[in-house]
Amino acid sequence: WGDEGKGKIVDELCRKFDVVVRYQGGNNAGHTVVADGKKFKLHLVPSGLVSGKKSFIASSVVIDPKVLLDEISGLKATPKLLGVDFRVHVIMPWHKYLDAERDKGKDKIGTTGRGIGPVYESHASRWGIRVEELVDESLLKEALGRSYPVYDKTLKMVYGVEAMPSEHEIFKEYAEMGGKLKPFVADVSIEVNEALDKGKRVLFEGAQGVMLDNNFGTYPYVTSSQPLAGNVAASVGMCPKKLERIEAVVKAYTTRVGEGPFPTELQGEEAERLREKGGEFGTTTGRPRRIGWLDLTMINLGKRLNGYTALHLTKLDVLGGTKKLKVCTAYKLDSQKIDYFPTQKEWISKAEPQYIELDGFEDLTQEEWTELVEASNEKGLAALPAKAREYVEKIQKLTSLKVVSVSVGPERHKTLLLESKE
Ligand code: IMP
Ligand code: MG
Repeated sequence: WGDEGKGKIVDELCRKFDVVVRYQGGNNAGHTVVADGKKFKLHLVPSGLVSGKKSFIASSVVIDPKVLLDEISGLKATPKLLGVDFRVHVIMPWHKYLDAERDKGKDKIGTTGRGIGPVYESHASRWGIRVEELVDESLLKEALGRSYPVYDKTLKMVYGVEAMPSEHEIFKEYAEMGGKLKPFVADVSIEVNEALDKGKRVLFEGAQGVMLDNNFGTYPYVTSSQPLAGNVAASVGMCPKKLERIEAVVKAYTTRVGEGPFPTELQGEEAERLREKGGEFGTTTGRPRRIGWLDLTMINLGKRLNGYTALHLTKLDVLGGTKKLKVCTAYKLDSQKIDYFPTQKEWISKAEPQYIELDGFEDLTQEEWTELVEASNEKGLAALPAKAREYVEKIQKLTSLKVVSVSVGPERHKTLLLESKE
């Protein structure tokens, strides 16, 4: 459900790459990268931009221009370093009002409130405004003339919202932002295909997570885009056969922000302790994240949907000091055992998680973890305390996936790399 530490892993991986591309979602995402003692909280630009990699935002991403401009200025990014596809859809003020108005009451999803659902809706229904229009005053005027009255009327008549700025105010604000973004506009399909043809290495970075996928997640408690690897080629505009390797980032336990089913969720003191220790508060909204045990049926579902061949396991240190560790390996459904995640509505309410129990490992300090990782990168998993190693090995065994890195703290050097850096 997101928040596994993709920002950190992309920051680590991108050293081996020439180009980094973000392929879906919008500023509902929050990626934290800690580099050279500085903490970067990114919502839109690829995490590779922190280390000055050539970066692109592909067509299935949606942007709030203000958030993008803030990130551009925070990272001092130039048009040489960052390209935004001209097809990208723009979040307009009405999308945020609609998100807020709809996400209420007992059926609320608990969205990030950034206008994500409504902007993808405009996209699909062809009422959207794209970056190519945002950066051209006369096209923007035309686009506003087409969509403003419809959304204004909807907000007033259906939701009783009178707070929306006037068409002219919106035009002024967005035209100004468009002017600033104009130099960044690119055709990401052409750029990425050319880079690949020249033998450059390209890393594609997703947002959110498998269980928030609009098709395959716990619908309707999902986001409005497709984080799955299959969406990379469709978003970028390239041949899917060009994807060479697909890797997953998985947290050592599970979290979820917002509403929706979470069968391995923990309550009370144990959840509270992990939440505090792991800093499990939303990067985008600051909301406390719900906490639960690792669920291998979700990893196995993700493996089927994405075909990933390797796992990056993050935040293992946070589990230190928990006496007994539980891992969900199957579900019981109407007295039958199933080894897959029960995503269907009818099942999810009655499926009971089945756990295996493992001994916990010691609560090391961040200094101790660092020493251990730095001293023994050649030792591989043997660098870890015995019980922590057993936990990782169990995950490998029950998913038939190799764990290629184990992360034990937010900073760059707190990663145990289990594969050559080729
Ligand atoms: P939306 O994407 O803002 O529409 O929110 C839909 C659901 O996805 C809510 O439960 C959000 O909390 C969740 N969500 C969206 N983006 C992220 C993310 O980057 N990390 C974790 N949860 C997210
Ligand atoms: Mg996040």
